This record gives sequence, C-alpha cells and structure tokens, in this order.
Amino acid sequence: MVNYKHITDETYWIGGSDRRLSRFENIFPLRDGVSYNSYVIMDEKIALFDTADISISDQFLENLKGLLGDKKLDYLIINHMEPDHCSQIANVVALYPDVTLVGNAKTFTFLSQFFPELNDQTKQTIAEGEELSLGKHTLTFVMAPMVHWPEAMFTYDKTTGALFSADAFGTFGAIDAGIFADEYDFEKRFLDEARRYYANIVGKYGMQVQAVLKKAAGIDIKYICPLHGPIWRENIAWFIDKYQKWSTYEPEDDEIVVIYGSLYGHTESAAQKAAELLREKSGKAVRIYDVSQTHQSELIAEIWRCKKIVLFCPTYNNGIYIPMENLISDMVALTVQNRVFALAQNGSWAPASGKLMTEKLSTLKNVNIVEPMLTIKSALHETDEAELNAFVNAVVEA
Ligand code: FEO
Repeated sequence: MVNYKHITDETYWIGGSDRRLSRFENIFPLRDGVSYNSYVIMDEKIALFDTADISISDQFLENLKGLLGDKKLDYLIINHMEPDHCSQIANVVALYPDVTLVGNAKTFTFLSQFFPELNDQTKQTIAEGEELSLGKHTLTFVMAPMVHWPEAMFTYDKTTGALFSADAFGTFGAIDAGIFADEYDFEKRFLDEARRYYANIVGKYGMQVQAVLKKAAGIDIKYICPLHGPIWRENIAWFIDKYQKWSTYEPEDDEIVVIYGSLYGHTESAAQKAAELLREKSGKAVRIYDVSQTHQSELIAEIWRCKKIVLFCPTYNNGIYIPMENLISDMVALTVQNRVFALAQNGSWAPASGKLMTEKLSTLKNVNIVEPMLTIKSALHETDEAELNAFVNAVVEA
C-alpha cells in the first residue's frame, strides 16, 4: 500500500523499512531492521533525493508513483551512490526518462560503474555551494567527502532549512509508526544503534565528519533528513553534539568496559573479579563482555562510548586470542583514539598476548596503556590478590 509522509512545505518522506535483513552490509547484525529513507520536494519542479535499497524497491516505487501521480519527475539528486540508496536509479529513469540526474563529478564516476546503461542520461554536475531552484525551494550543495564514501554530499533546502544529510545522522533500526525522532524515546529506542552505526561505518572518518560539521554550523538547520532512521526537527543540537563527540573520539561516558576472551573460563573468572573490584574502587559503571559471544560491532560501539577499556586475553598460537586480535585490528582500522587501555594476559607456559596487544594499541593516537599489565599463569588464585589489586588500582587512577 502506498505510504508516503509529509515532513514540511511540499517535502515528503517516501522510504520504507526492511525488518528481514539479518546483517547490514552482510556484516552487522540487525536487532530491529533498518530503514532506507528517500525524499521528494513537490515544487514547480519536482526533485527526488536518493532512491532506496533493492529490498524495499516495491514500496519505494509505489510511494514515488503514488505521490507524483501523473506529474513528471524533474530531478533525481544523488547524495550517495552506495547501493543501499542508489539501487533504484535505473528503475526511476525507466519510469521518468526525462529526469535529470544531479550529482558531483565523483557521483557520476560511480554511476557509470554501477549503471553504464545510464551513461547517456541527462546529468547536471554540481559543486560545493552551487544552487538549484525548484521554484519556491532553492537547494544548495555541501560536499561531504569520505562521510563515508568520496562522492557523499549533503543537499540543503534554503527555503525550509531541511538538510538531506546522506548517511550522516543515520541509525540502524526500522522506522516504526513515526518518521520523526521526537515521536520516539530516541535514547531508549535508537541511541545505542545510532552509536553502533556511526562507530562501525563512519568511525574511521572522524576528521572528515568534523570538516562537514564545521560547514553545517554555518547554516540554519531546521530538519535533518538522513538516509537511515528517523528525521530530526527537535533537539537537533543534542544529536549534533553526539556527532561532535563521536567524530572527535571523545568518550561519552566516564565508564569502564571489560572485554575478555576465555577458552575454559579461567580468564573469564579473572575478568569478572577484576570488574567487581573496578566497580567497588572506582564507583563507576562497569560492563563486561565476552569477545567470542558479543558481535564485534557491539564491542566497537561500547569502546566508542566508554573512557576505559580493559582487555583480558589468552595467548593463542604464541599470539593474541583470535577474536580479540580481530577486535583490536578493527579498533586500529577505525582509528580509535583518546582512550585508556589496561591489559591482562593469560598464558600457561609462555604468555605473549599482552606484549602483542600493546604493540598494536600503541599505534593508536592519544592512548594511555596502563602499567602494570596483569599476567595470569593459567588461572588467578588468592595468592595473586596483591597483583590483581595493583592492576585494578592502576586502572582506577589512570
Ligand atoms: Fe547507507 Fe553508505 O550507505
């Protein structure tokens, strides 16, 4: 059934949600689906902002045709060429063959790679700050390179103050019965997923996010219309502040996360005891995760949230326990910064994971790796209490 929604003057949401997808990008488990947002401005000229993922193509095309009726589409503005938003470009062109595709030079490089059959379609190449009038609405373009693809850009409607922000300000999670963030308890319903989405997908590009946030600070934003998740029209500054923190790698919470790997439970037992002492001595919230049981993307999101990260890791094949090694490699790839790390290694005959973890984590910017490291030979016992306490005290004081 056709299902588009009015946002503000002549501006509509025509997206949909996929609640069947188990893993976004075939990597990130979805607890609660994901939405693919697409927007239309119905002015003298009609503009469509991005298309949608193939999984919701029927709903998207039905919404588009239902909203436009017998009117023709003048412009398809392509803010992002990743297939979860561009998959329907050829189908839109088939429905509206006179449509002009609007994008930057890189947009059209990718368009040609994904859709060589559209090489002869009418195109309008725009650059930073250029304007496009639809009649009452005047659009301007803000380049957002590497947030998180090179061609990404925002489109700002100077008439309504709506910022079409591509993937920025998006989140995992299907759209329920409301399209606006203020129709939800956002912190309860979406914040953890918004953080997980940011950290894992955009996290590496903090500097580029900072550059575009600086540009956005100069414009009067009344609506943020992202490609995933609800639309912002209230408390916009609150969510921009989250992006400010996330993109500068500043911890949101002065809390401690303990992540352990454990083959038979001995390292887990040590991590549990340390976490209890950390809670007791610091008075701060402590969360414990099993690196083999919690998806890496959830752990990355917790690392983005918390100030202190305590890793308990067995030695495996003279190296780092594989799931922990994968997590640390992901931290390095995502350029985690500004954190306190504390390391505990276990090894029954030649503990080596602590030194190896130190080497990898030392490549990150502005990290403090707490001394002393805790070394466990097979299991912790009451006789190790002094060493455990010294380790915990060092974490608390760091
Ligand atoms: Fe939602 Fe970068 O695509």
